[in-house]
This record gives sequence, structure tokens and C-alpha cells, in this order.
Amino acid sequence: MTHNITLIPGDGIGPEVTQAVVRILEATGVRFEWEKFAVGADAYEKYGEYIPKGLVESIERTRVALKGPVTTPVGGGFASINVALRKKFDLYANFRPIRNLPHIPTRYPDVDLIIIRENTEGLYSGLEHEVVPGVVESLKIMTEKACTRIARFAFEYARKNQRKKIHAIHKANIMKLSDGLFLSCARDVAKQYPEITYGEHIVDNTCMQLVLNPYQYDMLVMENLYGDILSDLCAAFVGGLGFVPSANLGDECAIFEAVHGSAPDIAGKNLANPTALLRSALLMVRHLGEHAASTQIRNALERVYRHREKLTRDIGGQAGTSQFADAIIEEM
Ligand code: NAI
Repeated sequence: MTHNITLIPGDGIGPEVTQAVVRILEATGVRFEWEKFAVGADAYEKYGEYIPKGLVESIERTRVALKGPVTTPVGGGFASINVALRKKFDLYANFRPIRNLPHIPTRYPDVDLIIIRENTEGLYSGLEHEVVPGVVESLKIMTEKACTRIARFAFEYARKNQRKKIHAIHKANIMKLSDGLFLSCARDVAKQYPEITYGEHIVDNTCMQLVLNPYQYDMLVMENLYGDILSDLCAAFVGGLGFVPSANLGDECAIFEAVHGSAPDIAGKNLANPTALLRSALLMVRHLGEHAASTQIRNALERVYRHREKLTRDIGGQAGTSQFADAIIEEM
């Protein structure tokens, strides 16, 4: 069977890490047909649109995409392509497992934490306007529908995967209506899952609690912006942004991408660690039902880290992105 996958290499380190991951995936012998598209500034140059129509049609057809990071201009310019794609395909759940790989020295060993980030609204709605010169408003949108479905996603995942505890992360002491709605939806859903312990923590305290002792948490569910920030914080537990995968999941399709961005500071230098995107691809491969290929890659990845000869710079090695990929393919 051939899997048709939409491939979005992205920009910055995106093309380097996606190329490495595609090579590794193809070395498994599983057959992939890639439908490749540029987005963002690159696409605008070529086609005059930031999200080409062909890309949208491709995802509607394949229902699965592997995506590299895409740069979003700061303080002006076009709106985030990443956010637009999540909204366009209603990929409401962003699943971010924070787990150590063996043989990597990290700040904390044996972390196994899952962040579930609401992916379609909150302060990420990007609805801003200038009321009068010198005064701007930024709207935080929260709906009962989105709050309930993200809470349900988290509890369903916990039930299916024998997770024990979920904390809803919020700032309802200040944002009484918006985060208050998030909490009331989470509480309602929690009542239907009595076997799972439910707790609530305020987001600022959660940051401190995580740094003190990440083992006190099992799963965290939260609105979009908090999920964005806490994911990067938690990435530091397991070796940094080069290690944390994610899946943007909806009822119809899924886009798999790393948590990290386009890393302009190291782009084009063959320095990026492709592990985060590779682990995202492993989530994709399991989503496609190719469990043997997933195990094959995972074992090879662990062996490369155990041998320590072909590690990338972010964790003290000398190898480039492509040499790291070669080492995994050799192990396979
Ligand atoms: P970033 O995640 O790109 O980089 C933060 C730091 O982590 C940098 O020092 C970078 O070199 C390092 N890093 C990231 N990925 C790495 C990897 N695979 N291997 C080794 N080191 C790695 O965050 P930054 O610099 O804040 O954002 C850069 C751009 O990326 C922005 O335009 C932002 O909007 C965009 N972005 C895109 C995302 C996406 O496409 N889903 C997600 C996050 C940011």
C-alpha cells in the first residue's frame, strides 16, 4: 500500500529537517507518495498566495500532512500560516508528548508528560485592532464548544492510554469569564471520567511547579497561548526543542510537525536536530497503522543516541543534520 502524504517542508531549518526525515521514512520500505508544497513567504513569491489552493486540496485529499516549521513575521506582516492551517482544517487538539529518549543527558530523567493544547482559539485568535491611536485591543475568544471538545479529547486520551491525572491550566483568577468558561467545561467533562484524577492550577504557578518537579504532573490541558509557552518550557526537560514532537489533530485530518520553529539562527547550516520532526513522523506513521516501521525507526534512533558518535550540536555532538539521518539509516 502507498500512503499519500502532503509534505510542507516550510522554511528556515524546515527543508533540512524534513529532507532528513523523509529519507529515514523511505528507508523503512513503506511506500510514501509525497505531495510537496511551499507555504508562507516562499509560496507568496511563487504563486501570489501564502497558502496555495493546491495545498488545501491536497490535505483535503490525503488527510495527513508532515510539516516543517514556517516563519511568522514579528510585529507586522502576514498572519501565522501555522495558525491558519490549524483553523482551516479544524485541527482542534495539539498533542505534545514530552518524553526523554534514552541515553541523552537531560535536566530530568524519565519525564513522561503530555500537553494537550487547544489549537483553534484563545488569545491566538489574532483578532486585534487599534481603538484610537495608542490604544489597541487583542481579543481572547473562548467558546463552550472548543473548551468542551479539548477537555473531552484529553480525558478520552487518558482513558484509552491508562493515564491517571489531568490538570486544567488557567488564569481564571484574572480572566474570570474566558478562563472561567474553560474551567467549567473541563469540570463538566471530568465528572464523566471518575477514574481520572482532575486538578486545576494557575498558569504562573504551574511554570514554577514544573521546573521544581515535573513528575507531579501527568497530563496538562490548556488554552492555546499557555500551551504554546509551556511546551517550550517542558522541552527543556528532555533535551530542548530538538526533541519534542507534536500532532495537530481534528476529526477529518492531521498535521504532524515539531514543536520548534524555523530557527533562523542555525538555518541553512546543516546544524538542526531532526529528532523532533522524526518523532512527529513516528506519530504519523503510527496514525497510518505502520507500527513495524515505527518500531524500526525508534530502535535505530535509540541506538544512534546510545553510540553518541553522530549527535547534533544542540546536545554536544559534531554531526550535521544529514550525517545524523545517515547514521539512523545505517542502524536501520
Ligand atoms: P525556534 O523554535 O525556531 O528556535 C528557538 C531556539 O531553539 C533557537 O536557538 C533554535 O536554534 C533552537 N532550535 C529550534 N529547533 C531546533 C532544532 N531542531 N535543532 C536544534 N536547535 C533548535 O523559535 P523562534 O526563534 O522563537 O522562532 C523562529 C520562527 O519560527 C518565528 O518566525 C516563529 O514564528 C516560527 N515558529 C514556527 C512554528 C511552526 O511552524 N509550527 C513554531 C514556533 C515558531
